[in-house]
Amino acid sequence: MKLNKFLSKILIYSLAFCLCGCGLNSANSSTQNTGTAETYSQDYSVTYSGENIKKIGICMPAMELERWVNDGNLLKQNFEKAGYEVEISYGDNLIDTQINDINKMIDDGVDLLIIAPVDSDSLGTCMERANENNIPVIAYDRLIFDAPYLLAYVSYDNYMVGALQAEYIIDALDLDNATGSYNIEIFAGDPADNNALYFYNGAMDALTPYIESGALTIPSGQSDYYSCSISSWSTSLAKTRMDILLSSYYSKNTQLDAVLVSNDSLALGVTSAIETSYNKDNSVIITGQDCDTANIENITNGLQSMSIYKNLQNEVWVTCYIVEAFINGYSPSNNLCEGSQFDFQVTFDTTSYGTNEYSINSYLLTPQVVTKDNIDSITNY
Ligand code: BGC
Repeated sequence: MKLNKFLSKILIYSLAFCLCGCGLNSANSSTQNTGTAETYSQDYSVTYSGENIKKIGICMPAMELERWVNDGNLLKQNFEKAGYEVEISYGDNLIDTQINDINKMIDDGVDLLIIAPVDSDSLGTCMERANENNIPVIAYDRLIFDAPYLLAYVSYDNYMVGALQAEYIIDALDLDNATGSYNIEIFAGDPADNNALYFYNGAMDALTPYIESGALTIPSGQSDYYSCSISSWSTSLAKTRMDILLSSYYSKNTQLDAVLVSNDSLALGVTSAIETSYNKDNSVIITGQDCDTANIENITNGLQSMSIYKNLQNEVWVTCYIVEAFINGYSPSNNLCEGSQFDFQVTFDTTSYGTNEYSINSYLLTPQVVTKDNIDSITNY
């Protein structure tokens, strides 16, 4: 997706916006505005203008996870093609490294920051500094806490990701018609990443009724978020935990039927532990997220059951589009979704990620389930 392509769209949008005044609220729109901005106690909206934006700073959390390298490359390519100067950094999954990177970019004079935080809770001071310097910030994929002046948050519907993973397990085990009980274990993501709790809640809200009815059992008894979390989304820590669960709870006749796993880096560790340390013949259902290359191979070979596909080009495109709109004088709003002619679904949301104090203008894309059956339909990203 090319930035100059949506540059022309923004012109169309601008025209439509001017012609129709402020209201483009179409009843047939695929987007929905769940916002109630007037319920927040203060107005933290960004007031400075975007007309002088020339240099963009992009801060990704780590290079070791495939998706962030792809996100970083796509963002950089799109902005450079449209004539912006770009400074990019990867935080090595280290909070201090990312804070240094952001401070350096502010010192270097970037005009706008796009940040996927290593730790959603550690950037408050950097965000204040960015605001003092009139630098708008877009939180990319992961939310930044203590950032009332965030221009926008662009992500996938994180709760839906977890819900889709759980629904896959419910259908695969036909839990609505189950007479006995199936055994499951839960692997959640890094608690420093705000998304991880949304994935977990989406999945557990769907699975809990089956756990309560006895259709699902967790032999380890470990189901609360922190017991199941794996820091830094680490493959090797996930493998170690799965090895321990297998030797502690599945050594005799207990069969493992499913593992709810939040993403693909964890799924690699879980799959590897099952391959080496699980001694029953059944194939274990394993979920994932991101459609990383190694996991696509595992799905094709029957070692992983599903993943969640999040088209990164679309996420990048929405981000670039918001920047363009801001430069052209528009504030984030549902009108941007409706005027954009996106050929994929984006929801404008001001309530899901806000606090009592301020609302976050969020643009949430729709994730998709990928299995062996539809794996050929997804593109590279
Ligand atoms: C992203 C996932 C990713 C995970 C680990 C999350 O914030 O939404 O796509 O798998 O981080 O990098």
